[in-house]
Amino acid sequence: MELALYFHLLAATAWIGGSLFLFALGIFLKDKNAQKNVYEHIGPLYGYFESVWLAVLIATGTYMFMGHGLIEVLREAPDSQLAHLAWMKISLVAAITLFTVIHMYIAFKTHKKERSKTELILSRGSSMMIFILNLIILWYAAELRTVL
Ligand code: HEM
Repeated sequence: MELALYFHLLAATAWIGGSLFLFALGIFLKDKNAQKNVYEHIGPLYGYFESVWLAVLIATGTYMFMGHGLIEVLREAPDSQLAHLAWMKISLVAAITLFTVIHMYIAFKTHKKERSKTELILSRGSSMMIFILNLIILWYAAELRTVL
């Protein structure tokens, strides 16, 4: 379980660190040409990099979830604080995974191409949601760990 927590934390730092950095790049790199160049070159690599860490988070998280007997907690004590925190974290992770799939689908589909207005809204909206959800997930992760 210790090793799983270690990799869970490593993956969380890489996943959240990467997403915060790229989000900052989108805001602070004002030169549109430079921004386009950066995204064109590192975009696909960043996509694969982040997907691997998200998969590690889900795999190690599920392993620890079962190891801590949280499935039984959800079944036997659905009204407990622990069950509430566990459901919140699962739902938020499901949502962030969905937004990641949407974001990556558009990113790969429109790589080096012009984006339509809908694609732009979906891409920026999903990236904003990933950013916000990460901050909320981190809060619930710490709460869950405190109760455990
Ligand atoms: C975006 C995805 C995720 C992020 C960023 C994340 C982040 C974290 C962090 C930072 C901790 C440590 C909290 C602390 O020490 O205060 C943690 C713990 C934990 N996470 Fe996640 N997590 C994610 C996904 C998941 C998933 C999918 C599950 C299970 C379904 C899960 C289950 C757990 C459990 C059970 C712990 C407590 C482990 C222990 O105390 O031994 N996590 N998570």
